[in-house]
Amino acid sequence: MRKPYPPVNSALAGLWHGGDYNPDQWLDRPDVIDEDFRLFPLAGVNVVSVGIFSWTRLESEDGVYDFAWLDGIMDRLDRAGMKAILATPSGAKPAWMSQKYPEILRCAPSRVRDLHGGRHNHCYTSPVYRRKATEINTRLAERYKGHPALLLWHVSNEYGGECHCPLCQEAFRSWLKARYGGLDALNAAWWTDFWSHRYTDWSQVESPSPQGEGSVHGLAIDWKRFVDAQSLDFFLAESAPLRSITPGVPITVNMMGTYPGLNYWNWAPRVDVVSWDNYPQWHRSGDGAPARGDADVASYAAFLHDLNRSLKAGKPWLLMESTPSQVNWQPVNRLKKPGMHALSSLQAVAHGSDSVLYFQWRKGRGAAEKFHGAVVDHVGHEGTRVFREVAELGRELKGLAEVAGTAVRAEAAVVYDWETRWAIDEFFGFAKAERNYERACVEFHRALWRRSIACDVPNQDQDLDRYKLVAAPWLYMIKPGTAERLDRFVRNGGTLVLTFLSGMVNESDLCFEGGFPGPLRELAGVWAEELDPLWGGQANRAVPAKGNGLGLSGDYAVDSFCELVHPEGGAEVLATYGDDWYAGRPVLTRHRHGKGTVYYVAAKAEQRFTDDLMQAIARDLGLASAWEEKLPIGVNAQARSDGETDYVFLMNFTDEAAAGLPPFGCKVERRKAR
Ligand code: GLA
Ligand code: ZN
Repeated sequence: MRKPYPPVNSALAGLWHGGDYNPDQWLDRPDVIDEDFRLFPLAGVNVVSVGIFSWTRLESEDGVYDFAWLDGIMDRLDRAGMKAILATPSGAKPAWMSQKYPEILRCAPSRVRDLHGGRHNHCYTSPVYRRKATEINTRLAERYKGHPALLLWHVSNEYGGECHCPLCQEAFRSWLKARYGGLDALNAAWWTDFWSHRYTDWSQVESPSPQGEGSVHGLAIDWKRFVDAQSLDFFLAESAPLRSITPGVPITVNMMGTYPGLNYWNWAPRVDVVSWDNYPQWHRSGDGAPARGDADVASYAAFLHDLNRSLKAGKPWLLMESTPSQVNWQPVNRLKKPGMHALSSLQAVAHGSDSVLYFQWRKGRGAAEKFHGAVVDHVGHEGTRVFREVAELGRELKGLAEVAGTAVRAEAAVVYDWETRWAIDEFFGFAKAERNYERACVEFHRALWRRSIACDVPNQDQDLDRYKLVAAPWLYMIKPGTAERLDRFVRNGGTLVLTFLSGMVNESDLCFEGGFPGPLRELAGVWAEELDPLWGGQANRAVPAKGNGLGLSGDYAVDSFCELVHPEGGAEVLATYGDDWYAGRPVLTRHRHGKGTVYYVAAKAEQRFTDDLMQAIARDLGLASAWEEKLPIGVNAQARSDGETDYVFLMNFTDEAAAGLPPFGCKVERRKAR
């Protein structure tokens, strides 16, 4: 049976199991490294990520390299039948380098330059840092080209953050010149006659800063675009030698979910496989916790996994980091309850991951991550609960090897768009407290997750024609081409769900004239005249119309955002406000457009409304659930398929036995593909 997708690297078929391994912290302890190699097979580990923060051990002074220790590890991995995900070390720079070349240190928005320390804080424009990174990467590639253990390049680590140094300011201006051509176009796009902010010379343009500009939203969004583009440019520069010297070795960068500082849609085409680091806050309750504890945490993790799968149009991805037990950076770092480790890991596989990888293999003795969970604890042996659970999962993953390369097929999608998030986070007005774009998208995704209906998470630039149902909540920014794509999708028979806060600004954050939702107005069949934000604790009601056709009945609570819309072009009103001076005006409309349908949700409704709406639409469209019988909330099914066999993962995220599973239990059923 041919798999829908080839392995990331055919040198290691099946599911990868392992994680970040830092022998460079133990070079004076060969006994510990010997122990690691005794323990790897006991844990069922077949791959480790090495060299992520090894720069000082690889280049102890400018131009003085030492690869002997890494040679030893790579050779030993090969002898053990294991593989290496080999990192480039640019995620943390040596002290000698910061001292010798201070330009590599980042400047904060205040323009104050960092001292040496921490990590993930180099200037991505600095020619010196680019040269140093390229030099060491060239040596790594030359040295390990053809090495039988070399499986995948892990370029840098969790790129992120921004630099406001003079070099970056200059690079920003060049980027703007390329985007706008002339200052007139920039001034127009940024609406700079506001507060007399017109620029008359390029040198006046500066990145946003608490000491300086914070009121020009076009600037703020272009700065984010620049930071993304410049970080990506740094990645391309440092990975160029890897591409040319080891063309057969795939490349990844480890991403961070919906991390707002980068737009991963620009990165995905530049890596061979998407990978990401997943740290859900399991077992959180009390202050600020998700409404339904682990069920909602699981639904959020599902959203992020689906996003990562969508970045390469469904191609399997890698869970690059996860913790075997607790982390060390959340306000409270709870242990995973028995069973949760396997469940959380298999959830990633169910959503398309071809790996379960950890941060970290072994706890270090000192510094910031000494209390971060690891496969091997300070006690040093395999007789721990965590090690046993990891080893047990290792055996299970071996038995699921055939799942690697299979596909998740989704007929529904919830759009999550980075640039829209930037614009929503940035604007002044309406209500601040409840303005959480990501949560809005998660709630629409959750409605389908609760019925175990597979869902992709594209951004607004993607082609949507392969879906039957698309929800695009809060699509505040409409970029060129988006309205046309959405229009085509609906005309050809698609069902689209839009909400309040849609179609308000263009890609420069300039408001559309002629009535919101701007270029979506005709498609949506509404004119959104006003938006009434509510204070915390204030609420209204959505009252479904009789015969709404969706089975909506009884009142639903709405709060925070109440838009006042006029149906147009024959749109029907399916629910109205129950209270306040706008009682009786539409909260939910339906507009037939071409062969398709557009629903418009004018207020921020409780989850139950979103569930009922999305599930009714999914039912009408005949969208398949991975599990036929209705499952209790917190029990979820997801399927991967090779076209012949479906692998159905049934997962219980509750602390009670349910659907034949123990608390935090998971099972995988093989079925004939439908
Ligand atoms: C990130 C980093 C790792 C480690 C973990 C801890 O994901 O990439 O190096 O610090 O967090 O959870
Ligand atoms: Zn800089």
